[in-house]
Amino acid sequence: MTDAFGVPSRPTAVRLIMLGSGELGREVVIEAQRLGCEVLAVDRYEGAPAHRIELISAEQARPSARLLVVPEIEAIATDELKALEAEGLHVVPTARATNLTMNREGIRRLAAEELGIPTSPYRFCESAEELQAAVDEIGVPCVVKPVMSSSGKGQSTVRDPDGGSAAWDYAAQAGRNGAGTVICEGFVDFDYEITLLTVRHAAGTSFCAPIGHIQVDGDYRESWQPHAMTETALANAKSCAKSVTDALGGWGLFGVELFIKGDEVLFSEVSPRPHDTGMVTMSTQALSEFALHVRAILGLPVPAGDIPVLSAGASCVVLADRDLADPMIDGVSEALASAPNLDIRLFGKPDARPGRRMGVVLSTADDVDTARDRARNAAAHVTVS
Ligand SMILES: Nc1ncnc2c1ncn2[C@@H]1O[C@H](COP(=O)(O)OP(=O)(O)O)[C@@H](O)[C@H]1O
Ligand SMILES: [Mg+2]
Repeated sequence: MTDAFGVPSRPTAVRLIMLGSGELGREVVIEAQRLGCEVLAVDRYEGAPAHRIELISAEQARPSARLLVVPEIEAIATDELKALEAEGLHVVPTARATNLTMNREGIRRLAAEELGIPTSPYRFCESAEELQAAVDEIGVPCVVKPVMSSSGKGQSTVRDPDGGSAAWDYAAQAGRNGAGTVICEGFVDFDYEITLLTVRHAAGTSFCAPIGHIQVDGDYRESWQPHAMTETALANAKSCAKSVTDALGGWGLFGVELFIKGDEVLFSEVSPRPHDTGMVTMSTQALSEFALHVRAILGLPVPAGDIPVLSAGASCVVLADRDLADPMIDGVSEALASAPNLDIRLFGKPDARPGRRMGVVLSTADDVDTARDRARNAAAHVTVS
């Protein structure tokens, strides 16, 4: 094993196998290619965003000097990854981290029960009856989510004290494992929520400035950086993020999701990989979350302590509102001309459905409020039809 960088497509190559090739994976691929790595981008459909950058079929698998498996999505066979890791394969950040975070039960029990980190009150339920009992115990409002789901799928807020069975049915049709387990969480009346991008690298742990975001129906719409926090709240947030990411281990960037009320910090969940709300770092930081991830996983130096923010900035997503077989994205010129310091990423997805994320507008400004206004106004010019 060598730390040197060889030539892509030769046995000296540093190779990454991306498991998942969405818009976040695409940026990781670009950063890896900037370092001369060879990438095999895998997804379950052809024409995924990262495939437009790099598409090598699995049959072309070649020997390489270093091989890293980089999971980009949660829905993968993490037990297989554990077995491969046991045989010596480098899984990013660790097979255990991908396994624990793909299921809300794994990560919640680790954080709350093993590490003693504050979270919302919660119960895991395996039937409509158990869920109703949890709703009775926790009280309304409460939030019900399939343990295996993301982007708000199957998630609902129960306000009716007898709403357990309806929430069960809603979760069952959306979770990755059908009518499986759900988590019922007490509704947290937070002041704001943040993603704390946390980088575990060869020389220690570094933190990006807190990213604020707005979620609608469990899916992110806008994010911005930095989000103002009190010194105590930020210190609590870092300590919580450090504890969770240390327990997951390995090198890489993690998106730690936290709810903040006053100086109190509640852990919500964590991605052992770049986070969608962190796309804003493509405009605010010299090294985006994707560049930091690639540096960390390859064992390269990452700035120590706090990763500098070069400018306040924001992101606003571009969503489709209907099913489209051949989506056309219009209004990009108007969007980019609508204010200074705007940028846009279009993901090139081959089809659209209601709520599917097709692109993101990025902005910078002297302050976060102006950056948010610019990004939101610009995104409103973009149409998907
Ligand atoms: N217990 C809760 N109390 C209040 N809001 C919540 C709670 N759980 C989730 N949310 C809201 O829903 C969003 C998505 O929930 P999350 O658990 O992060 O699911 P996902 O895995 O789909 O991102 C959160 O970012 C937050 O805005
Ligand atoms: Mg989340």
